[in-house]
Amino acid sequence: MIMRTVYVNGDYVPENDAKISVFDRGFLMADGVYEVTSVLDGKLIDFAGHAKRLERSLSELNMQQPACLPDLLDIHRELVRLNGVEEGMVYLQITRGAPDDRDFVFPDPETTEPTVVLFTQNKPGLADSPAAKKGIKVISIEDQRWARRDIKTVQLLFPSMGKMMAKAAGADDAWMVEDGAVTEGTSNNAYIIKNNTIITRHLGSEILHGITRAAVLRFAREAQMKVEERSFTIAEAQEADEAFITSASTFVMPVVEIDGATIGAGAPGPVATRLREIYLDESRKAAV
Ligand code: PDD
Repeated sequence: MIMRTVYVNGDYVPENDAKISVFDRGFLMADGVYEVTSVLDGKLIDFAGHAKRLERSLSELNMQQPACLPDLLDIHRELVRLNGVEEGMVYLQITRGAPDDRDFVFPDPETTEPTVVLFTQNKPGLADSPAAKKGIKVISIEDQRWARRDIKTVQLLFPSMGKMMAKAAGADDAWMVEDGAVTEGTSNNAYIIKNNTIITRHLGSEILHGITRAAVLRFAREAQMKVEERSFTIAEAQEADEAFITSASTFVMPVVEIDGATIGAGAPGPVATRLREIYLDESRKAAV
C-alpha cells in the first residue's frame, strides 16, 4: 500500500511518522469531533456545509476552535493534491488535545491546544458504485447511542457494533430504532418513499444533521418532489415503495430489503435513482 501524507497539528507527514500523545482526550475519552468530506474529480463536495457543522460540534462541546480553522479548506485541498485523490474522502478529527495526565475535568484551553488530524481515503469508483445499482439490505436494531447524536463525535462504538450485527445477519447496514421509530443508519440518514413522497426523520438531537441530507432535500424540493420530515416505523418502511440512505461516503444509496422484507421491486426504484443522479450532478458542479 502506498504511504499517505497525513496532516497532524500543522505538519504534513508520512502516515508512519504521525504521532499523537497517549494522553490525547480523543484516545482516552472519545472527546473529539470529526467530519468526512467526499472528493469527486479531485474536488471537495459540500465543503462549506461540513465546515459549518464542525464549528457547531466544537461549540456544543465548549471545545476551543483550533488556530488552523480558517485554513481548513486549504489543508483539505493540499492533502487531496499531495495524495493524488480523484475519488474518495477526507477525514478530519479535532480533539480537546493532550493534557499532562488523564483527568475527567476538561484541560485548561490556555495550556492545552486541540489536536487536529486529517487524512485522505482513496476510493476509486465511489460515484459509480456497484452497490448503488443493486441496492443494499438493512436490519433494524435498538438505538443504544448517547442522546446528543446531533454532535458529530468520535464515539462510534455502538454504530460500529451495529454494522457488525448487520454483517452477522447477512445485511449491509443497520437502521436504529428508538421508541418504535427509526432514527438513522449506523453512519447515514434513513429515508422511505411512499406515493412519491420522500419521508425522513425530522431534525433534532436524536440524529446527525446530515450535510448530504440537507442537499438532497433541497434538490428534491427544487424538482417539485414532496418531502415530509417526520418519524416512521420499520413496519411503515417495509410497506414503502422505495427506501434509501444518504451520507458523504454513499451519496444516495438505495435500500432494497429491511429485516428480510423486500422493498418495492427489490431493486433500486426510480425516485432514489433519480435523486442519486441529481445529487451527483449538482454536487460535482458546486465542488471546490
Ligand atoms: N457518517 N448519520 C450518522 C450517524 C453519520 O455518521 C453520518 C455520516 C450521517 C450522514 O451525514 P453526512 O451526510 O453529513 O455525511 C448521518 C460519516 C460519513 C462517517 O462516519 O463516515
